[in-house]
Amino acid sequence: MKQLLTGKQMKQADTWSIKEFGMESLILMERAALCAAQHIMSVQKPGCVFIMCGMGNNGADGLAMARILSQNGWSVRIAAIGQIEKATKEWLYQKSLLDKMEILPVQYFYESDDKDEEEYRSALSNLYVPAQVYVDALFGVGLSRKVSGVYRAAIEEWNEHKKKCGAYGVAVDICSGLDAKSGQVLGAYVKADVQITFGYGKVGQFLYPGASLSDQTITCDIGMPNEAVYHVDGFPFNCLEKSDAKDWLGSRCLWGNKGTFGRVVIIAGSSGMAGAAYLSALAAYRTGAGLVDIVTPKCNRLVLQQLLPEAVLHCISEISEISKDEDEEQLAYLRNEVLPKAKAIVIGPGLSTDTLAKKLLDMVLEWNRSQNCPIVIDADALNLLAMRTNIDHAEYLGENVILTPHPGELGRLMNSSAKEAAKNLLYFAEELQKKFGCICVCKDARTVILTQKNRYLNLTGNSGMATGGSGDVLTGVIASLAAQGLSAERAAVLGVWLHGAAGDEAAKEKSPYSMIARDLADGLSKVLIQI
Ligand code: ACO
Repeated sequence: MKQLLTGKQMKQADTWSIKEFGMESLILMERAALCAAQHIMSVQKPGCVFIMCGMGNNGADGLAMARILSQNGWSVRIAAIGQIEKATKEWLYQKSLLDKMEILPVQYFYESDDKDEEEYRSALSNLYVPAQVYVDALFGVGLSRKVSGVYRAAIEEWNEHKKKCGAYGVAVDICSGLDAKSGQVLGAYVKADVQITFGYGKVGQFLYPGASLSDQTITCDIGMPNEAVYHVDGFPFNCLEKSDAKDWLGSRCLWGNKGTFGRVVIIAGSSGMAGAAYLSALAAYRTGAGLVDIVTPKCNRLVLQQLLPEAVLHCISEISEISKDEDEEQLAYLRNEVLPKAKAIVIGPGLSTDTLAKKLLDMVLEWNRSQNCPIVIDADALNLLAMRTNIDHAEYLGENVILTPHPGELGRLMNSSAKEAAKNLLYFAEELQKKFGCICVCKDARTVILTQKNRYLNLTGNSGMATGGSGDVLTGVIASLAAQGLSAERAAVLGVWLHGAAGDEAAKEKSPYSMIARDLADGLSKVLIQI
């Protein structure tokens, strides 16, 4: 399992390694610089390298790289941006080594109040020499505010000159301007070919838009002790990999019958929304559930019978069509005959938020409280949950309830907007988990899964999955895994991984422009063959 840290956690890991473990900061720095320099030497023949350095320790990494590359036959040019009075002791030490070599011009560029950005840019322009490699060591994980003034100008010049001379762009640790936690860009940002990151990948490098700032992120081991990760605030983000997915899924019992592989009950669909129930049920079957029941209004009977004859249908009447007694009768039938057979329940896809939907959600939540059956709550059921403001959700929802909001639903659940939720996905996900206490699967280009004790970031999937019905497929996958006996946490994490991997399989055959949700169900079969 790959682990990612936020910038703050990385600094805590660094500090612990240095202060508590006794690792010399200069040793970590030397190894970091060597890794980055070795990467450059592995992809390019010696030539000219231009290095943009800040005055913090990321800049010091850049100076150390300059020394190493120079000793290996590179012609090195450095632009040091910022105020020398702010340079760290490690920076001054690295600079003193360069001075001893007497070969490296370090051009300082001071911040001053009387220049605007254009003036900075024209003054900086002649520092940026043509080179075959451009290195960005302006800011690392220490970036703490929006980039402006000389720093913004320096970044823009770096991008422009790099492009003009067709140089290979290497960002040291993280692209300058990228927030290591949120993946948002702060003012201006470097666009590199590769980020050479140290110790652990940074969460912001894998969230969008951060993940689009370089083609590749390489994580280098710089000798930081493994224990360092236990000395940071909060938990690191775990990223499931193919081998973990295989382990978690396990092998299918050779002598099992349909009862062995779990029964999923899907409460979904309303008038005009039969497709949501279909996609969820199809995905549950395609992920290995033994039986799938669909509870849906009568109007969907014909279409669902034709689309998925394998499903067991329980068609219910709208409240307006029946008497109060009949309404109670149909709920009693579901409660006494259908739910007891479920090993996992999905509620919400295409459900609507009408009175019947509300009653169904209440029934399922009560069932979860008494039976502890895993439940995936999605779409309209989340919207209904958002409307239940008079209850303590964390008290009410069991630990094996899985919420799967997209940013719009996340915004509603947190009394905010989709835009805000998408922009601060991690923050919103953390707040959602605190508020609801259960497993939160916050879907976006990168999906975040939070439980009370663990944090996960999913790295599979692609833009072709941003299409109607994709979320319905996910509900079926997660519920299917839970019904087959995985814990709710593992079902959620592996389900998101499989769903994304299925999308990646689909994208091998179809352009992301033309992928539709059903392609994901086909993709699931391919992924399951591979693992
Ligand atoms: N505009 C202008 N200045 C800014 C901005 C901004 N938008 N944002 C931050 N800064 C300044 C800060 O004020 C900060 O200085 P301060 O700490 O005095 O406030 C400075 O930029 C820090 O910049 P960074 O170089 O990004 O941060 P730091 O010095 O913490 O180094 C680090 C980051 C550890 C080098 C990391 O990115 C890295 O590359 N690690 C590799 C491993 C390594 O070298 N480890 C040992 C390092 S030694 C040690 O950590 C003590």
